[in-house]
Amino acid sequence: MRLTQMPEWLRLKELASNEINIKEQFLLDSDRLHSMSFNLGHMYVDISKNRATKDVMTSLYDLARASDVSDWADRMFSGEVINTTEKRAVLHIALRNVKYERGNFLPISSILVDGEDVMPAICDVLNRMAIFSDKLRSGGWTGATGKRIRKVVNIGIGGSDLGPKMIVRALEAYRLKDLEFHFVSNVDGQDIYEVLRKCDPEETLFIVASKTFTTQETMQNAVTAKNWFLSKMREDDVAKHFIAASTASKEVSAFGIDLDNMFPFWDWVGGRYSSPSAIGISIMLSIGKEAFAEFLHGHHLMDQHFLNTPAEKNIPINLALLGIWYNNFLGVETMAMLPYDQRLERFPAYFQQGDMESNGKTITREGERVDYQTGPIIWGEPGTNGQHAFYQLIHQGTKLIPCDFIACVNPAHPYRKEHHDKLIANFIAQQEALMNGKSKEQLIADGCPEELIPHKTFDGNRPSNAILLQELNPVTLGMLISMYEQKIFTQGVIWQVLSFDQWGVQLGKELAGVILKDIESGNPKEHDPSTTALLKKYLKD
Ligand code: F6P
Repeated sequence: MRLTQMPEWLRLKELASNEINIKEQFLLDSDRLHSMSFNLGHMYVDISKNRATKDVMTSLYDLARASDVSDWADRMFSGEVINTTEKRAVLHIALRNVKYERGNFLPISSILVDGEDVMPAICDVLNRMAIFSDKLRSGGWTGATGKRIRKVVNIGIGGSDLGPKMIVRALEAYRLKDLEFHFVSNVDGQDIYEVLRKCDPEETLFIVASKTFTTQETMQNAVTAKNWFLSKMREDDVAKHFIAASTASKEVSAFGIDLDNMFPFWDWVGGRYSSPSAIGISIMLSIGKEAFAEFLHGHHLMDQHFLNTPAEKNIPINLALLGIWYNNFLGVETMAMLPYDQRLERFPAYFQQGDMESNGKTITREGERVDYQTGPIIWGEPGTNGQHAFYQLIHQGTKLIPCDFIACVNPAHPYRKEHHDKLIANFIAQQEALMNGKSKEQLIADGCPEELIPHKTFDGNRPSNAILLQELNPVTLGMLISMYEQKIFTQGVIWQVLSFDQWGVQLGKELAGVILKDIESGNPKEHDPSTTALLKKYLKD
């Protein structure tokens, strides 16, 4: 049924015409905090500060049920081909369907694709990654001249960069201090130039991370790295310094990487969901196999919670439904991710791809154009930096911006009193300020000059979610990632779009190929006047 004709949708539309005051909702319902907050492992999620009444929540749960969210989840978890335009199963959840026992990764249960259990191959790759990781971390795997590897450079882009980079940074406290990690993604030569300047080829390991092994940026960076390496070392030395994480063994081999040094994964792992696969080899090298196993375990905990919990108590489903409420019924276009944790600096960028590449779609599963909004614009920066940059607009601007505030009770640094108390005070205060605002009456009581009252008034009633981890560790980070992944999945199901393809990135890639030929020939073909002028300007200078 067309989404906008579903009775549950129409009911929500009706409810959206009522003004909802968040503060008032707490007065009307003494159970609100209890029914709108959740504990899972060492994670606490509070969704009570949203413009949603009990009726709204009930209707949203009805919408989830009418949209068959739990059926679709079953279909994904059982390996059905739900990525229909690419004719693929969607099985990043299988990558974390593993346990770690006596130094081995083992399957928790079987998952079949085309009648074949994918779990043995997943565990085989994880165990191979673990052997390599142990060797490199212990100094047993040396460079070609016998020197210990000190620097690891991950070359990849999109899902082959954002996840590993965000996660290695987030789990800095777990990093083996003998190893330094660098990430090169941009085709802008400045990116690799700055990294190579800091590296000694005898002590550097390059990971070429690319699902397809054809991505222009990654291939150019890999060639540049190899040329730089060969300017000082011999061709035979490449095997000790270049490894690959990919699905494309032919291309890896053609590039000159020994297949013994390739860690494979499969086409049913989407790039933006690939950190728990071989693409996460940099993560394992940084934190070690045991911590990597915990990272997978964290994902699995949340995956199982998502699969087995009714909508009312399901954390990703609740987040997804509130997102839909704002996006489709209250006219909201963006949402901010605000980690009050410097280690999660790259988290918003990571889920910018996770969310926007997944649900930035206008065509339904049935091939029809949608007549409603789909994926929101995701953005954000760590608090408190954001407070001194864009929070003005969140507090007093004309736009409504739902915010996810993320923080940890325990820091990983020793400055709890001096720093962490202040950080958390800000984390809590911002959410309180957004909801409560500041009224004219309060300003008068504070002795505010009359002419300043309109400027200093805060309307409040601005929504936020609080996500509080006991601490940031491999388990809680895995949970956090899976929580947002399953939120995105749920929204995609309800919007009836295909969340696991990304055709929208193709056209720009194709045209870049054409333009590159124009540049290389020095004699561009006619394009539109603006494009031609840009080309001519570049070629003349
Ligand atoms: O251009 C988008 C994209 O295909 C992403 O989905 C993907 O994460 C990225 O490029 C990198 O792709 P690959 O891992 O194949 O190099």
